[in-house]
Amino acid sequence: MIIYSDTVKGISPGKLKGFFKGWKRQVTPEEHLRILRNSAEVVIAIDDETGNVVGFINAISDNVLSAFIPLLEVLPEYRKQGIATGLVKRLMYKFEGLYGIDLVCDKDLVDFYEKFGFRSHIAMIKRNFKT
Ligand SMILES: CC(C)(COP(=O)(O)OP(=O)(O)OC[C@H]1O[C@@H](n2cnc3c(N)ncnc32)[C@H](O)[C@@H]1OP(=O)(O)O)[C@@H](O)C(=O)NCCC(=O)NCCS
Repeated sequence: MIIYSDTVKGISPGKLKGFFKGWKRQVTPEEHLRILRNSAEVVIAIDDETGNVVGFINAISDNVLSAFIPLLEVLPEYRKQGIATGLVKRLMYKFEGLYGIDLVCDKDLVDFYEKFGFRSHIAMIKRNFKT
């Protein structure tokens, strides 16, 4: 069974394996845990049989007007079961009163995010692959 949590209290780096595969900028499980701890809000999905985190979403926010969702990922073997939908829904609930929630995604995920009320817009991005 999948359990959702909005805290990473009690989660060790060892429970955060398998994410960020294929990224040019490698992210270690220790860094992943720091990302989640430093975020304004997180929702994680845990497989209760293993205790491992199998999906997560995070957001940074000014907690007045705006929030931004930098990351959403579900481990490949857990995809297509509605876990990302569960993560996004729970995060949206936390930000209900905010003016704007933004994210950047590939074209093939536009339909997915539209289901939660997002609409396409122009985004500008800058990446530093040397860090
Ligand atoms: C995108 C991602 C988080 C979806 O996770 P998931 O748990 O499989 O998503 P869900 O099971 O909730 O799927 C929801 C819907 O989106 C669709 N979907 C999921 N991934 C998709 C993709 N890559 N392209 C197109 N549609 C996709 C599913 O078919 C499903 O459609 P349905 O509701 O009509 O059946 C997952 O594929 C992933 O981690 N991808 C790599 C990281 C990534 O791209 N993150 C997004 C950053 S913006």
